[in-house]
Amino acid sequence: MSSPSDRPALHKVKPSIGIRLAGTGMAVPDVVVTNHDLAKKVDTSDEWITQRTGIHQRRIAPEGVTVRDLATAATAAAIKDAGIAPTDLDMLVLATTQPEMVCPSTAARVVAEVGASPAGALDVNAVCSGFVYALNVSTSLILSGAVRTVAVVGADVMSRMMDWKERSTCILFGDGAGAAILQASDNPDQGSLHLSMGSDGSQWRHLYCPRTPDQLPPDDSIFSGAYDTLQMNGREIYRFAVSTLQGEIDRALTACNLKPQDLSVIISHQSNMRILESAREKLGLPKEKVYINIDRYGNTSAASVAICLNELKQAGRVRPGDLVLFVALGGGLTWASNLWRV
Ligand code: ACO
Repeated sequence: MSSPSDRPALHKVKPSIGIRLAGTGMAVPDVVVTNHDLAKKVDTSDEWITQRTGIHQRRIAPEGVTVRDLATAATAAAIKDAGIAPTDLDMLVLATTQPEMVCPSTAARVVAEVGASPAGALDVNAVCSGFVYALNVSTSLILSGAVRTVAVVGADVMSRMMDWKERSTCILFGDGAGAAILQASDNPDQGSLHLSMGSDGSQWRHLYCPRTPDQLPPDDSIFSGAYDTLQMNGREIYRFAVSTLQGEIDRALTACNLKPQDLSVIISHQSNMRILESAREKLGLPKEKVYINIDRYGNTSAASVAICLNELKQAGRVRPGDLVLFVALGGGLTWASNLWRV
């Protein structure tokens, strides 16, 4: 597997305008499923899940609650937090692994449901890297001058693509959505300092969701036998996540001539507490500088970084002037980061 450090240097964003983080929101289902609850359904234990992943509980969408419902609620909350009218939105970029339908995009329906028509609408699929990909797309659209106000949304209902007999996978995920409103500003120091996106599709077989037998990889030894469910080689993904997370953080800091200590907080995709702790220890950062909420929500895929951002902003822990590093990695395989001055 190629490592991010093998790849050529990435473009540095040189904004002539800035971008303001105007508001955030989130939505998670009310239903809490603890590790103890899961242990009644599959052969696992609270102790195993907590020690290997750091997860204590996750939210699971009840029947009838869709990815569109969660995305709409998160977007509406972010619009309210930003103090704008829905019609102020020029664009909505929605990251999801599970668009409700292939046609139309989920984004188009969310735009309509929050009352933001005729804003542009675009679904992005980069699996767990989705929100940071959507953030980067939105950043680029604003810096190009094409749009001024964008809703960036990450939403997933991962519980719908679980094989609930596969204990090494189903314990990891939860459902939810998060959103952020970005607005062009006159302050060029605000917004993205550096962004990065990458993929290695040759490694797709370590995390995939097959529909039919012809989609299985030649070596289908990890296939659980259940189509339309997530198949995962946990050890390979773990190795990829540890090295890629570290690589992306190093590259962003090096590109901007910064030290880890200069960061106010790292907002990372929540894949496993051990992966996040390992990165934090290597960087020599205190606990409060790498935000963690996987204990409460599990891995919410495209929603995780957005949910973290909302929790930090609503708690007053992301303030003007702060330097925040968004970083994520996931199926594809994909990875992305965005170093951001709030
Ligand atoms: N409960 C109890 N035992 C379990 C469970 C479970 N839920 N799952 C697996 N085991 C058992 C295995 O069967 C195995 O038993 P054996 O030794 O008798 O064969 C043993 O535990 C060890 O299994 P491993 O797979 O080696 O466990 P590991 O320490 O690698 O942890 C885990 C597994 C948690 C999945 C880890 O590999 C991981 O987190 N990988 C990253 C996966 C990830 O983040 N995926 C998210 C999608 S992509 C992304 O977000 C970046």
